[in-house]
Amino acid sequence: MLVVAGIIFLGTLGLLIIGWLRRGTPGLPFFGQSERANVGLVIAFGMAIPATVLIALFIVSDLYVMGQTDAPPADQTELKLTVVGHQWWWEVRYPESGVVSADEIHIPAHTSIDVVARTADVIHSFWVPELNRKIDMIPGQNNRIELYAERPGAYRGQCAEFCGLQHAHMAFQVVAEPKASFERWLESQSRPAAEPTGALAERGMELFDENACAGCHTIAGTPAEGTIGPNLTHLASRGTIAALTVANTPHELGRWVRDPQSIKPGAKMPGLALTDADFHAIVAYLDGLR
Ligand code: CUA
Repeated sequence: MLVVAGIIFLGTLGLLIIGWLRRGTPGLPFFGQSERANVGLVIAFGMAIPATVLIALFIVSDLYVMGQTDAPPADQTELKLTVVGHQWWWEVRYPESGVVSADEIHIPAHTSIDVVARTADVIHSFWVPELNRKIDMIPGQNNRIELYAERPGAYRGQCAEFCGLQHAHMAFQVVAEPKASFERWLESQSRPAAEPTGALAERGMELFDENACAGCHTIAGTPAEGTIGPNLTHLASRGTIAALTVANTPHELGRWVRDPQSIKPGAKMPGLALTDADFHAIVAYLDGLR
């Protein structure tokens, strides 16, 4: 596409330059003031060439490139994932092991992953530029894309379809690991949440369950079973919060829990009217969810 567009761009530029150089001379170069040549040029450059080029590019991209980058049939992939777009974060589900996470997609390297892309609200677009093309997340539809990482590493992903106020802060990370460490990660994520250690974290857990937090977030093994916001069972194991907007440190987590709107204006998470001591306890609890 770049080569074809480059040729057309340079050709157009050439014609413009010829026109400018001959600006004092009436009529067309080579053809003079022939009416037939005028009509012929409009038909050739305005209709025939664009139609031919667009049809050829459509055939190449649709039949060849799309076929090459489509998700392979489900029985040829080795791991299934469901990723659900939400305003403005990513829900990540591993249906075979029941693990639910957010914003950080762990995958084994050298493995064909079948990603089912869905949305909980508006249209989003799931895109990890280094691993494959984009796939739109469309209400009521399950779209599929393959992820395959040739080497372990962290690959940034980004929502690629404008989806509202915080579209630009709807990023995620794919962490591709050697198979053995991926299996260890999956096993640790499938456990229920760590028990709070210490009086402060225990108080934090109570506050979490008494307040609105538990209505939106799930922490496996506790009464918190909300599904509107990200699953927090192993929150502290993730590197960032708020879809890669800030690092997951106690300081940033504290800022986020206290006043999410100051970090991500328009985010669906409300600020709660709690005392400093209460916020402190909640953060201590969340920070222990390894
Ligand atoms: Cu989600 Cu843009």
